[in-house]
Amino acid sequence: MSPTRLSLVIFASVLPLVALVGCGDHEEQPTGGGGGTAGNGGSGGAASKAPTYYEDIAPIMNTHCANCHIESGIAPFALTTYESAKAVAGLAKLRTETREMPPWNPSNTGDCNTYENARWLTDDQIALIGAWADAGAPEGDPQNAPPEPEAPKGLAKVDLTVDIGFDYSPDDSLADEYRCFVVDPGLAQDAFVTGYEVVPGDKRVVHHVILYTAETPEGDAQADANDAADPGPGYECFGGAGIGNARWTVGWAPGGGAQMYPETTGLRLKAGRKGVIQVHYNTANGSYPDKTKIHLTLAEQVENEAQIFYTGTNDINLPPGQADAAAKGVINIPANVGKFRVWATLPHMHTRGKTLKVNYNLNGADTCLVDVPNWNFHWQGVAIYDQPVASEGGGTITIRCGYDTTKDMEEIFNGEGTDEEMCINYLYVSK
Ligand code: HEC
Repeated sequence: MSPTRLSLVIFASVLPLVALVGCGDHEEQPTGGGGGTAGNGGSGGAASKAPTYYEDIAPIMNTHCANCHIESGIAPFALTTYESAKAVAGLAKLRTETREMPPWNPSNTGDCNTYENARWLTDDQIALIGAWADAGAPEGDPQNAPPEPEAPKGLAKVDLTVDIGFDYSPDDSLADEYRCFVVDPGLAQDAFVTGYEVVPGDKRVVHHVILYTAETPEGDAQADANDAADPGPGYECFGGAGIGNARWTVGWAPGGGAQMYPETTGLRLKAGRKGVIQVHYNTANGSYPDKTKIHLTLAEQVENEAQIFYTGTNDINLPPGQADAAAKGVINIPANVGKFRVWATLPHMHTRGKTLKVNYNLNGADTCLVDVPNWNFHWQGVAIYDQPVASEGGGTITIRCGYDTTKDMEEIFNGEGTDEEMCINYLYVSK
């Protein structure tokens, strides 16, 4: 490609963006023609309009990538300096265009809700990273470097901390190990979880953490029995806590900091009941001893007690060799449920899962609850709506899960094992 053509291409692809990332004032900027020249205040020709690392890319990467892409983080390389970002500019373009990075399962486009805790780039930010990579990843002026990202704030108030009880070194002969540890919160009275912060013992190995709580004494006993039956610390588990009627209470994936549940709401933690912390270890970076802990903010009472409402199906019967094998469930919501609000959603499938969609149909009108266009098992977690979905009983929830079984030789059924699948979407609901 001749230099002239190159700069023309850059000019064409970058112009509208310059207008977008302009001076930060709120003047209307025409998106075509010469309007973009008002943008960076630079002089020079078209090529100087290419986005640069310090001016355009570092502000995005510091906010949306560096929480994982940092030395000793879960991601395999840092994205915290010009050199480190430049080295993967082309890959960064590809992975952000497909929305594989930053990882986030539910669509946040607004076609089916938006989420206050979404890890999500705007289309403009994605285009900017692409234009920067295409322009050869120019550096820009280090004097314009954005301020260092602030260290994430922890919980304002910690009332209870539980940890897995061991320095556990994951088995590095396995790429992924799923381990459950029994914990005893030791509550004398019921309390409500209103916020949480998971602190991984070693960020290089902890890929996700879920706290389940037993609903009954039988659940406690089953957790203890599982623990006793497995020789090492804790016990092996994959798609759940391995105990009957355990309730999902806290979920965390890397990059997530302290999280409050929506104001006025909280989840009941029953006095006397035990918990199970499931840790997914990934040993791509090696094996390091880990003692993950979970801080909880508790309230004695909350205005709106939230329930984790199961929507899903056990009727999973997936033929092998299909790119989109489906499981479908229908859940009728009785009219006497009355008014309710859905505050958050938590989709769950295993590794063959590709898509998941949940709708609520009331009197012929559909409300989309969650739409996952490209499921990634490694990045499941609770997604909290920007605005709770308010509705009332008398309608029907439908869930459809799509799976890729092209690599399978046999039918796949429902279950918690790695060779089984699940089709679940938990809803965090209250009156
Ligand atoms: C929540 C944590 C997290 C965030 C946020 C995140 N990444 Fe990643 N990224 C990872 C992990 C972990 C990997 C390793 C591969 C995997 O697990 O998918 C990875 C891998 C990558 C890869 C390599 C993919 C490959 O094909 O080898 C690129 C490129 C990348 N990330 C770019 C980005 C960019 C750019 C951002 C910000 C816009 C970002 N990531 C934000 C965790 C994260």
